[in-house]
Amino acid sequence: MRFEGSTDYVATPDLMLAVNASITLQRPLLVKGEPGTGKTMLAETVSAALGLPLLQWHIKSTTKAQQGLYEYDAVSRLRDSQLGGEHGSRVHDISNYIVKGVLWQAFSAETPTVILIDEVDKADIEFPNDLLRELDRMEFYVYETRELIKARHRPIVFITSNNEKELPDAFLRRCFFHYIKFPDKETMQNIIDVHFPGLKKTLIREALEVFFELREIPGLKKKPSTSELLDWLKLLVAEDIPPEALRAKDQKAAIPPLHGALLKNEQDVHLFERLVFMARQNR
Ligand SMILES: Nc1ncnc2c1ncn2[C@@H]1O[C@H](COP(=O)(O)OP(=O)(O)OP(=O)(O)O)[C@@H](O)[C@H]1O
Ligand SMILES: [Mg+2]
Repeated sequence: MRFEGSTDYVATPDLMLAVNASITLQRPLLVKGEPGTGKTMLAETVSAALGLPLLQWHIKSTTKAQQGLYEYDAVSRLRDSQLGGEHGSRVHDISNYIVKGVLWQAFSAETPTVILIDEVDKADIEFPNDLLRELDRMEFYVYETRELIKARHRPIVFITSNNEKELPDAFLRRCFFHYIKFPDKETMQNIIDVHFPGLKKTLIREALEVFFELREIPGLKKKPSTSELLDWLKLLVAEDIPPEALRAKDQKAAIPPLHGALLKNEQDVHLFERLVFMARQNR
C-alpha cells in the first residue's frame, strides 16, 4: 500500500514520503502545521486514495481515551431493568450496553481502515498516554464482558496537533512525525488550481502577491493561511473583483477588498491599515 497523491489535494513529495514511512513502520503519523494547512484533509485524502474506510475521531477538551475504545451505557441498562418486559430481557446481556468507539470499530472492521485522531492536543495531558498501548499493540481489554479485542487489520493512523499542548515523550516515540511546512508560492498556486480550475491567472498572481506580503508583516497575531486564501479568492470571484483592484498601479499600497477573510482580529487590521497609511505617506 502506497500513497501517491490525489487530484484534489496537493501533497508535496516530503509529505508523501512521510505518509508512506508511517505505513511501512506501522506507526501513527503525527501531523503538525499551522491551522488550515491541510492536516485534517490529509487523512481524508489518503483514505480515499487507498480506497479504505475513514473513521474520524474529533477530540475535544472533555474527550477521554476510553471513549475511543468503548463506553458502557449504564443509564440505558438501568432504564431497561425498570421497564421490564422486552426491555428487561436485554438487561442480562451486558454487551447490549457496550457502545463501540472508533478504535474498536477499526479493530473489528473486515478491511484495513484509516483512523483520524484529530486535534489530539485539545484533550488533557493524560489522553495520549492513555492510548499508548492501544496504538502500539492494537488491542485492548473489555472488562465488562471479559473480552480481548485485537485488531484484525492494523489501521493506518493519522494524529493531528495544533501544538496547544506538548505531547508526552512516550507518545512521540511511537509516532512518525511530519510538520506540514507552510506552502511556498508554487505549491500554493497548485492548491488554488485544484480548488478553482480555470481562474484568471492575473487574479491569482495579484492575490498571491497580496497574501504573501500580508503574511510577512511583522507582529501579526494570526497569519492568514491556505484555507483563508481560498475563502478570499472565492469571495473575489463571487464579487467579480478585478485583479487591478487588488493593487492599483498608481496607488502602491491599497487595502485589499474583503480582507475580513484574511485578517481575523482587530489588532491585525489596525496594524495593517497603519502600514498602508505609512506607505502612502512615504510616496
Ligand atoms: N495541500 C492542500 N491541497 C488542497 N487543499 C488544501 C491543502 N491544504 C489546505 N487545503 C484547503 O484548506 C482547507 C483546510 O484544511 P484542513 O481543514 O485540513 O486544515 P487543518 O490543517 O486541519 O486546519 P486546523 O488546524 O485548523 O484544523 C481544506 O478544506 C482545503 O480546502
Ligand atoms: Mg484540522
